[in-house]
Amino acid sequence: MSKITVIGTGYVGLVSGAILSDFGHTVICVDIDENKIEGLKNGIIPIFEPGLERIVKNNYYYKRLDFTTDIRSAIENNDVVFIAVGTPPADDGSADLRHVLVAAKDIATHMNGYKVIVNKSTVPVGAGKKVKAVVQSILAEREADHSFDVVSNPEFLREGSAIQDFMHPDRVILGAESDRAINIMKEVYRVLYINETPFVETNLETAEMIKYASNAFLAMKITFINEVANVCEKVGADVQKVAKAMGLDGRIAPKFLHAGPGFGGSCFPKDTRALARIARDCGETMSLVETTVEANERQKMKMVQKILDAMNELADKAIAILGVTFKPNTDDLRDAPSLVILPELAKRGAKLKVYDPAGRKEGDWRFSHIMDSITWCENAYEALEGTDATIILTEWNEFRNLNFEKFKEIGAGEYFFDLRNIYDKKTMLDKGFKYYGVGV
Ligand code: UGA
Repeated sequence: MSKITVIGTGYVGLVSGAILSDFGHTVICVDIDENKIEGLKNGIIPIFEPGLERIVKNNYYYKRLDFTTDIRSAIENNDVVFIAVGTPPADDGSADLRHVLVAAKDIATHMNGYKVIVNKSTVPVGAGKKVKAVVQSILAEREADHSFDVVSNPEFLREGSAIQDFMHPDRVILGAESDRAINIMKEVYRVLYINETPFVETNLETAEMIKYASNAFLAMKITFINEVANVCEKVGADVQKVAKAMGLDGRIAPKFLHAGPGFGGSCFPKDTRALARIARDCGETMSLVETTVEANERQKMKMVQKILDAMNELADKAIAILGVTFKPNTDDLRDAPSLVILPELAKRGAKLKVYDPAGRKEGDWRFSHIMDSITWCENAYEALEGTDATIILTEWNEFRNLNFEKFKEIGAGEYFFDLRNIYDKKTMLDKGFKYYGVGV
């Protein structure tokens, strides 16, 4: 059993801390936000992640998991310290390391013996070495000669399925400079190690690069199929079939080949820009990644154009918007295609009746500038009532089986923009809808 501290109770920190305690370790999660810590002690989970609440409450009850604002005792009492703070994008697209380096300083200030410092935040290549340098300089100021190791252990959690992703990862990446640190980390992930999860042991820079290269590749894969979809529409091909057949080739694999309105979220948009920046900074170009960023922006506008081409005029048209989050099973709207598409429709005079199972809270402030054009609804059918068109923007399960009999009854219109391709085109056309998917 390891004694673990996790600095930062955001998405990555909280999920990692909770599951590591579920693996049997003693974990303390630290945050500067007192309200958040108080809430967590009372079972209030600040993020939307299916299954997380049960794990947090259970492990807190059995005293394997605790929460504190007292960074000093959290560092002094534990040997493995995860840094899981945010790395928001700076103005130039690079990841802002400020919070990571503050955490490194805090660790060095309170270090009282050997510690393994684990970087879980997504950080630019070279950040592990920066953390090491900060810790060394503070230890030198303190005239303390404690030894420590820095480990890069990037996460591959998807929002909405983070628990499953943490408990059954495709691989665990451990970038480190000493065997001692690697062995301690193997103990931390013992449950996975004995389950034969592949472990990749490497140096800090390689581990950091693996994370960026993986996310950029997936973003590129989505963008590739989105561009194929756009061509399919013009030449009469069906992207769903194209993607399925491509995915049957083991070298390509079927996942992340769903055409849609463009990728969003807190990771792909940020990480693609950051990787392009890393490349430029060292005199290289990642032209595929640069193009992916641009093409993804274009894809969102193409969706607007698709709607305009079909409906001609949007002034005073009522449109039901089903889903605003960047994907299902999250309340997160960061970089969601809806943030571009809704204002564009509003600008052209459309009245938007919006329903999302979890996105209302964040949507309220994100769409505050177009509030006059938006009516929030309590369910899909309320949103559909008296509208000219339906737009499916996020593929929540509850939108997959809409009761089309009801459409006439409540006066929902015939235009149906299925931007996630969750319905079959022919069936929808047979039902009398003017159906538009992406690439079908
Ligand atoms: C992503 C990665 O999938 C995780 O492995 C990684 O750990 C995480 O970023 C991170 O860096 O923290 P996430 O952003 O939660 O996870 O969401 P994804 O499920 O990857 O979806 C991202 C976006 O791509 C969504 O907008 C989704 O709708 C879109 N997408 C995904 C498609 O348009 N088509 C697809 O086929 C797949």
